[in-house]
Amino acid sequence: MLEPAIHLLNRAKQEGYAVPALNFHNLEILQAIIETAEKEHSPVILQISPIYLEKIGRTAAAAMAREAAREAKIPVALHLDHSNSLEWIRWALAHGFTSVMLDASALPLTENIALARQTAELAHEHGATAEAELGHIGGVEDSRETGADPKKLLADPGEAAKLVQESGIDILAPAVGTAHGLYKFPPKIDFRLIEELAVALNIPLVLHGGSGISNDMVREAIRRGITKVNVGTELKVTWAKSMAETLINEGEPWKVAAKAREAIGRVVAQKILMCASVNRA
Ligand code: 13P
Repeated sequence: MLEPAIHLLNRAKQEGYAVPALNFHNLEILQAIIETAEKEHSPVILQISPIYLEKIGRTAAAAMAREAAREAKIPVALHLDHSNSLEWIRWALAHGFTSVMLDASALPLTENIALARQTAELAHEHGATAEAELGHIGGVEDSRETGADPKKLLADPGEAAKLVQESGIDILAPAVGTAHGLYKFPPKIDFRLIEELAVALNIPLVLHGGSGISNDMVREAIRRGITKVNVGTELKVTWAKSMAETLINEGEPWKVAAKAREAIGRVVAQKILMCASVNRA
């Protein structure tokens, strides 16, 4: 069943686990996420960014995800990940997304707050959930090369409180030391910052850049107050490897797709276990 993300996240926050938020890039990844979540009786957030929606065809991609979520035997939220405009927010809400993120973290705080407020108002008119971002996720890794002070790129607790209070957003993605994509250096997650934000804000917090982080680190982040764990790259890499291996001997599309689904399903099951969301549906 298709539900607003906040329903899944509030329950997870109360009961001390996280909801895996998994990016899909095609039909096989989407199916593997839902099938595995059903098998493990886990709630799940299906997410996709505007860049990918444009690449694979936004109307068809939204329709396949929405219908798969509606038919699923477990609670599924459909989330727009990292959009950069209110036009995308309006489009997603009109196409059945139950959660939306507008990432204005690169803008000055006042502009980030103004956009987050409009995102929250639009989302709430549709009974959907709104996510905003604060700090610079991804920059911590880059800073080793540019020499920037990594601490300056993390979310500031005072700014976070102002953003949440003045915008009315439901969930916040604070920069806490993780980065998107495959890590060149092991991430240094600021667990104390997560805890400080969780206590002060009292809303579900999101860990972006979940690929390639150890289970122990993610579990510690959940213990300190993370409730949504975003993973994308690992699923894409698994799909590509499986396709490359299977296509050598097999040309029948459904058979190639079935192998990819199996391989991605194994990764999804690990992420569900990592989030401790097994049997929470
Ligand atoms: P990864 O691709 O690094 O797993 O990050 C996913 C993410 O944070 C999506 O918003």
